[in-house]
Amino acid sequence: MSNAGLLVFTGVWGLDPTFLSEECYNELSMGKAIVAENITYSYNHHLAVDHISFHIDEGEILGFLGPNGAGKTTTLKMLIGLLTPQDGKISILGMDIKKDLRKIQAQIGVCFEEKNLYEDMSAIENLNFFASLFGKKIDAEALLERVGLSAQRKDRVVNYSKGMKQRLMIARALVNQPKVLFLDEPTDGLDPVSAEVIRKIILEEKEKGVTVFLTTHDMMEADKLSDRVAFINEGKIVALDTPDNLKHEYGKRILKVRYQKDSELKEEELPLESEKTPERVREILSSYHVRDMHTEEATLEDIFIQFTGRSLE
Ligand SMILES: Nc1ncnc2c1ncn2[C@@H]1O[C@H](COP(=O)(O)OP(=O)(O)OP(=O)(O)O)[C@@H](O)[C@H]1O
Ligand SMILES: [Mg+2]
Repeated sequence: MSNAGLLVFTGVWGLDPTFLSEECYNELSMGKAIVAENITYSYNHHLAVDHISFHIDEGEILGFLGPNGAGKTTTLKMLIGLLTPQDGKISILGMDIKKDLRKIQAQIGVCFEEKNLYEDMSAIENLNFFASLFGKKIDAEALLERVGLSAQRKDRVVNYSKGMKQRLMIARALVNQPKVLFLDEPTDGLDPVSAEVIRKIILEEKEKGVTVFLTTHDMMEADKLSDRVAFINEGKIVALDTPDNLKHEYGKRILKVRYQKDSELKEEELPLESEKTPERVREILSSYHVRDMHTEEATLEDIFIQFTGRSLE
């Protein structure tokens, strides 16, 4: 296939369920940590993931942003081989998931919503046990220090708070020094300290070159952590780009002005791009006492609503 041909496919990759030739698919998989093409999954005739395609480059964080029931966990389960796509194909680190699942699983780390930890064991015992499943010896103390659990490392997990268990789950996902991390809403419902620890670790892993597939319905988190964000709604990817590009392309910036009109506090939102805005600002400034004035950028949530007609909550 020519470079020009590859570029055409690369340009639409991520949004277009066009079926690719075997040769083209293999070429696209090279240097990509994850390639999902046209993947689909139904639970008893309920289409949960509907022919979606995307790739993630090595060392990239892809935020998979969508509301409850959008299909995030189902997609993640297909990517790690827990569910078999009913259509389409997946390659991880250049390997076909159907042929090389064992090899792939040795090189990935997974953190799920469900906590599959041994609650009667300590954090250290948990990590050493999971490392032994990979045939690895690890420095469990160092790993626990990274997730802020040094002081409680010998305590039984049953006594841990939700945030502590989740931090341990993240440490667990790292025991085999994975090249790709799959994190399913890792900070959902956590206290701010635990959430920050986890976000810091995600960025540290990215710095080391690790690729991250991160599902979330927190638009701030997706914005802060992701190199690119995919919007998923009702099983389909409706947009996929960097947070900045999404905001520039689809977000309207506004100027918010609050001013005192007689005894009333008035607020106006003026589109920054509109030709009429400077004139209106002059009018307000000359006629009223202005309380404050500031520009606001569209959020990923605003843009998500534009695409789907629904919010993330
Ligand atoms: N085991 C199952 N059996 C039947 N339907 C399921 C099952 N798991 C998920 N679904 C349905 O598939 C759709 C996608 O679910 P999924 O769990 O992938 O969404 P999600 O984006 O992860 O949502 P959440 O934010 O709530 O975790 C939903 O309509 C859900 O009800
Ligand atoms: Mg889910």
